[in-house]
Amino acid sequence: MPADFTLTDKVVVVTGASRGIGEAIARACAAAGARVALASRRQEGLDDVAASIAADGGSALPVACHMGKPGEVEALFDRVTDELGPVDGLVNNAGTNPYFGPMLGITDAAFDKTFEVNVKGYLYAVRAFADRADGGSVVNVASVNGIDAAPLQGVYGMTKASVISMTKTLAVELGPAFRVNAIAPGLVETRFAATLISNDEIRERVVSATALRRHAQPHEMAGTAVYLLSDASSYTTGQTIVADGGLTIT
Ligand SMILES: NC(=O)c1ccc[n+]([C@@H]2O[C@H](COP(=O)([O-])OP(=O)(O)OC[C@H]3O[C@@H](n4cnc5c(N)ncnc54)[C@H](OP(=O)(O)O)[C@@H]3O)[C@@H](O)[C@H]2O)c1
Repeated sequence: MPADFTLTDKVVVVTGASRGIGEAIARACAAAGARVALASRRQEGLDDVAASIAADGGSALPVACHMGKPGEVEALFDRVTDELGPVDGLVNNAGTNPYFGPMLGITDAAFDKTFEVNVKGYLYAVRAFADRADGGSVVNVASVNGIDAAPLQGVYGMTKASVISMTKTLAVELGPAFRVNAIAPGLVETRFAATLISNDEIRERVVSATALRRHAQPHEMAGTAVYLLSDASSYTTGQTIVADGGLTIT
């Protein structure tokens, strides 16, 4: 039987889809045949991405949602299920990192905000998905900062290590109906990473330790997400696929 890398007629929710990695994943899902629901806090950015996907012949429903607020996440999944039908795939991608500095210097507010969006938000979305569907595929966007030490981004790294742990446990607890996997990107050129990429010293340190000798563009994360959502990955669950250009192998 040929491997099926398509997402034909699948309903996929992508969080943090108004720009960066989430936008690239949403575009790739639509191109692979999915009807995509786009979530992030600001409606305007989502509307622009949805219009652009539609102009390319795809289908996208833009829904404003703060992923750290469980009531809004429930409402997101209600609306998507009502308008598009049962959800088949979820890409947990909305993330934040409000603090850059030594780990012990973080404020309680910044600590809580990071965990609210990056960890609780992912859990809220998986719960809302699992409560409304008989099965499907979850893709959690983690980070290499959840695998290796993350100096100056320590609490952010803790949230991403939590995502990798959550991925394994949910794969066991929600299997066999649901598959749950993660992607751990390296350095990707987005607004989120602008401070790192525009700092010559940090960028050069990362790039020189990367086998492919460059940082990534957002679309380079999308193929892995589509694969993990598709039936081509039907026997893969609980895994974290590292997409870092070879940073963590050096
Ligand atoms: N860029 C990298 O180098 C890199 C590396 C490893 C992992 N990652 C991970 O990749 C994911 C995407 O990051 P990115 O680099 O693409 O960043 P980005 O371009 O800044 O995009 C972040 C997205 O998340 C949304 N968002 C932020 N807070 C939200 C909230 N509370 N509720 C709903 N949506 C929210 C933003 O939209 P609104 O502002 O409208 O809410 C935006 O759509 C994150 O999980 C990040 O940790 C990034």
